[in-house]
Amino acid sequence: MITKNTIDKIFSAVRVEEVVGEYVQLKRAGGNYKGLSPFHDEKTPSFVVSPSKQIWKDFSSGKGGTAVSFLMEIENFTYPEALRYLAKKYGIEIEEDIQQVSETERESRNQRELLYKIHEVANHFFQEQLYQTEEGQNIGLSYFRERRLNDEVLKKFQLGYSPELRNAFTQIAQEKGYDRDLLEKSGLSIFPENIPSGIDRFRERVIFPILSFSGRVLGFGARILKNNIKTAKYLNSPETEIYHKSHVLYGIAQSKQSISRENHCLLVEGYMDVISLHQSGIENVVASSGTALTKEQIKLIKRLTPNVTILFDGDAAGIKASFRSIDLLLEEGMNIKVMLFPDGHDPDSFAKAFPKEYVKKYIAEHAVDFIHFKIEVLQKDAGEDPFKRAELIKEVVKSIAFVPNHLQQEIFIQQVSKLLSVSEQNLFNELQNQKNHLQQHEKTKPPQLKKIETAQLETSIPPLLFLEEKLVELMLKYGDREMFRKKEDKVIKSSVIQEILNHFEEDSYEIQSPLHQKIINEIQKGFAESAFRSGQFFFSLMDEEVSQKVADVLIEPHQVSDWNKFNIYFSTEEEVVDKLVQDIILRHKREYILKIIKDLQLKIQQDPGNDVQYYATILKLSKLKIELDRVLYRIL
Ligand code: CTP
Ligand code: MN
Repeated sequence: MITKNTIDKIFSAVRVEEVVGEYVQLKRAGGNYKGLSPFHDEKTPSFVVSPSKQIWKDFSSGKGGTAVSFLMEIENFTYPEALRYLAKKYGIEIEEDIQQVSETERESRNQRELLYKIHEVANHFFQEQLYQTEEGQNIGLSYFRERRLNDEVLKKFQLGYSPELRNAFTQIAQEKGYDRDLLEKSGLSIFPENIPSGIDRFRERVIFPILSFSGRVLGFGARILKNNIKTAKYLNSPETEIYHKSHVLYGIAQSKQSISRENHCLLVEGYMDVISLHQSGIENVVASSGTALTKEQIKLIKRLTPNVTILFDGDAAGIKASFRSIDLLLEEGMNIKVMLFPDGHDPDSFAKAFPKEYVKKYIAEHAVDFIHFKIEVLQKDAGEDPFKRAELIKEVVKSIAFVPNHLQQEIFIQQVSKLLSVSEQNLFNELQNQKNHLQQHEKTKPPQLKKIETAQLETSIPPLLFLEEKLVELMLKYGDREMFRKKEDKVIKSSVIQEILNHFEEDSYEIQSPLHQKIINEIQKGFAESAFRSGQFFFSLMDEEVSQKVADVLIEPHQVSDWNKFNIYFSTEEEVVDKLVQDIILRHKREYILKIIKDLQLKIQQDPGNDVQYYATILKLSKLKIELDRVLYRIL
């Protein structure tokens, strides 16, 4: 856990207009900035940044929040990823809450940090070698030129070169103070018994750094330059504490924005495929690095889009092996298509042979759904052999069994029925078989928590919830602003928060929304610790769901349109806060009474024997309600 202290530091250093300004062209508009929404195509700016409140709001999509939530939206960072990014940008050192973790966990964290660091050093070293040494230029750079990569794309993918000298990196790293143990653990150096000074893992190779989702270097792929040598063409980092091959996708850091924007991800096999497509201007592409896809990798894509097109080389070698990847993607609810390049082409060569628009069009036109793809591939083997054809049908239905959506399943079954002239009924029976089979497998797997479906958004908010929301909003907006209330000829001074918190506590209200409950808890805590400072307080303390809510409350829609241009002024809420708070508290009270009455009436229906006691309570509450109606009438 990143410490509260660090989070505070980050939030007080960060300027939201600077962070957003890297993605959106902002223009001054009064106290705020305005720009075109980066989340939508639009012609009139509806994106507002408030430097005084340190929040942004996008009126075209309704999104809003802090600098952190902006990065989470646009870069698809997780909360800690966004914090780390900002810490780096503003030169803040991250402290982790290590009190709560065990000694071993602390050590392994330090270890991981060191591993990240040494990879950064190595990444820098390899690039320096490529551009600034004669060997790098003559061998590495000229290799990349031969493969027709331009400078821009070399830089974008941070490609490098490791020299022939067998301990070039190991020596430099040791001189910088990184010890043998770490170098060995990172996989960057090897220490054979007969060479105690150590040697570099990668020698005389061009280097492809492998980056995490948020752009940290996790490991390297390294390609040999001479084709005639009998060692493996690519040498990759071994599994380390920071590099898990099955958890990363090559190119995700460079491609995530485009994948998210296009709402579509192309999946290729190799480093070169990703890079060449980027160079041609197609940037929504990642590589599985030559292995079958894993669940973790699919999850990375799923953060960005549900739509995937797998691009295969012309040669059919890996195609059947890909069936497992297809099933996994289907199981994760992804919409997948598959495309084969014409013979002899892979994405790399195809992207170099044809212009961007042609490649795009070609993919769009030639990608087929998994059913057509599977049938096509398997039919070549099966021919007219009835046994083999039955196997083929089973194979196709097996994939359909992985599709979580039943409606889609039915549509796929109909397709297969038409394509292969088998009755739908038969196919459904087979589907059921396959599902049973899958469930058998499921049972042997460790149990997993079922995802709780998020409740459907209600179209009309019940009044109790609405009033509760208003009260929370008032606390967020006006915080500890002073307010005055008359009580029997005396004037009582308190603050907006105090007034509303008292109200909630007084009658021990059951808070209707968990989000409101969260906010109320935080405010209570802040109040008790008298740590309360309005504004920033909420953003640094609370999670992103809360800060979105705070932003929504703090930037009101009428700040965008220039009402006063038309000489239209509102009597501002600010002028009537005291009244508003009292009024809404009373309305909330009234609505809560109505709810209790309703609950009691329900109980009477279910349990008519005890009705006398219930009726007495209802009567008391009704009187209270009438009393409240009177007071409310007086205020208004
Ligand atoms: N790969 C690997 N080790 C190998 C061969 C391949 O790790 N010995 C991985 C690499 O990630 C490679 C991918 O599998 O990018 C696909 O292999 P291939 O198609 O042979 O590589 P290309 O990217 O096409 O490389 P190149 O065009 O440079 O030959
Ligand atoms: Mn290739």
